[in-house]
Amino acid sequence: MSETLIIGASGQVGSALASSLTAAGHAVLRATSRAAQEADQIQLNLLTGEGLDAAFSRSERVFLMVPPGLTEQHRLLGPAIAAAQSHQHKKVVLMTAMGADADPNSPMRQAELLLKNSGLPYHILRPNWFMQNFNTFWLPAIQATGQILLPVGEARGSFIDARDIAAVAAVLLHDSERPSQAWTLTGAEAFNHHEVAAVLSEASGKNIGYSDIPPEQMRQMLLEAGLPADYADFLLLILGAFRQGYAAAVSDHVSQLLGRTPIALADYARDYRSAWA
Ligand SMILES: NC(=O)c1ccc[n+]([C@@H]2O[C@H](COP(=O)([O-])OP(=O)(O)OC[C@H]3O[C@@H](n4cnc5c(N)ncnc54)[C@H](OP(=O)(O)O)[C@@H]3O)[C@@H](O)[C@H]2O)c1
Repeated sequence: MSETLIIGASGQVGSALASSLTAAGHAVLRATSRAAQEADQIQLNLLTGEGLDAAFSRSERVFLMVPPGLTEQHRLLGPAIAAAQSHQHKKVVLMTAMGADADPNSPMRQAELLLKNSGLPYHILRPNWFMQNFNTFWLPAIQATGQILLPVGEARGSFIDARDIAAVAAVLLHDSERPSQAWTLTGAEAFNHHEVAAVLSEASGKNIGYSDIPPEQMRQMLLEAGLPADYADFLLLILGAFRQGYAAAVSDHVSQLLGRTPIALADYARDYRSAWA
């Protein structure tokens, strides 16, 4: 009954969160949309609602997110938030994204408002673009061309390490002092993609560059990688916001919550250097 349910528990943020909570002595219930293989796993599918009641009845705190590739966050998270209400969860931590509150009608903002209006104790995490995109989503282009290929010009981003998001979530899931609020999670410094490429090159010993590409080329690459058209269009929209400078702001919320500076891009690159080497 005292377990902390983690949606996306095998993901970049969720897996680091599960390790961190377990290391701190908290019982964790790891949700998966696949068949559960281990005692601390439970099958839960946000697309169908399957397993929601069983997972929420066994837990009293929950980390919520929507897997990449899906755009209807409010529709997918509504039943989960309702389940947290009916099982009187003590804390809900929801991960959306930096800028989620820019458009009151966006599905991400609608999901945040569902949680805010639920009466549940909550925290909303709004991370900037993850550093880990360079060793996942953007990696095939780097491997194929030696270039980060993105339609974002010279704009800067204060990229965040997914491990810092997990560390913040671990603190807030078990916090009983701070009032419900939204937190903007960024790195300590903003970089353009020429600078990112130089940091990745230095760490990996490979010569990695950056090319600013037209949005239409990006769309084609995303579709060829198998993304649904609506998600490719969503990504192009937020990459457009990046290009206009909206990803450059630096917040001090990570250091406020963790009492240390966020993981630096150079440290991320050193830890993941085998991805590009
Ligand atoms: N990447 C970025 O730059 C960035 C920036 C800001 C915000 N975000 C947000 O971060 C989130 C992604 O986080 P992440 O990178 O940690 O995720 P991730 O590594 O892509 O992992 C996705 C997780 O979702 C689970 N999953 C897949 N289908 C599911 C379903 N139908 N029902 C329930 N769970 C399902 C997967 O587990 P199973 O396969 O075991 O089910 C997996 O654990 C997204 O909401 C995105 O909007 C990302």
